[in-house]
Amino acid sequence: MSADDWKRQAAEAAMQHVEPGMKLGLGTGSTAAKFVEMLGTKVKEGLDVVCVPTSEATRAQAAALGIPLSTLDETPFLDLTVDGADEIDAELRLIKGGGGALLREKIVAVASQRVIIIADHTKRVETLGKFPLPVEVVPFGLNATKDMIESLSADCGSEGPITLRQGAGGKPFVTDNGNYIVDCAFESIEDADALEDALRLIPGVVENGLFIGIADLAIIAGPMGIEVLSNEDPDFNVETLV
Ligand code: 5RP
Repeated sequence: MSADDWKRQAAEAAMQHVEPGMKLGLGTGSTAAKFVEMLGTKVKEGLDVVCVPTSEATRAQAAALGIPLSTLDETPFLDLTVDGADEIDAELRLIKGGGGALLREKIVAVASQRVIIIADHTKRVETLGKFPLPVEVVPFGLNATKDMIESLSADCGSEGPITLRQGAGGKPFVTDNGNYIVDCAFESIEDADALEDALRLIPGVVENGLFIGIADLAIIAGPMGIEVLSNEDPDFNVETLV
């Protein structure tokens, strides 16, 4: 089986949590796109849902599939968001933003009663940080902001190159919100909670890709089956299904 198959398996498992009448947040990235594709099929078969996408790319995909769309302004409270992740640790802490949509992803996730993360097994890590941490920053004062990220991250034990993400034509990548992304190659984030708190103190940082205490369930598919991590039931930690 390929990574694509595992992503599809995880998306299929998440689909079982969708109920008629739900207000859904739709994530961004290749795994979330599989969920959106399946949701499109269900909507064609008559499923009644209304969805808020976390990026313009997801909005375009969902619209093309005929999925009823809304905005957080019209629909500020969502029942469930299904999204992907770049890294997931045992405490269900995440790194997100590989696709550059971390700000809207976090806003939509926090507006949701329940957040389910879907991924293939390569995203499951012992320690966060191998995947460079995306941080969305305003273009004004970019270098000062980068310096401050470097300094405050080092205070939390995270050091490594911080680079401005590049887009097409050698120009900086610009998010759906008109901001830039810097990718922090820390290799290992020893204290994710402290780092997240520190990044919040920097005025030029709009949002960071650490999602802590946000995900309720992670469905992770791989060669050993489907691993489910849950924050919902204190007696339930890790269960391997099938
Ligand atoms: C986008 C994200 C994605 O969820 C993350 O990058 C995972 O993407 P993929 O499913 O393509 O691996 O956070 O900002």
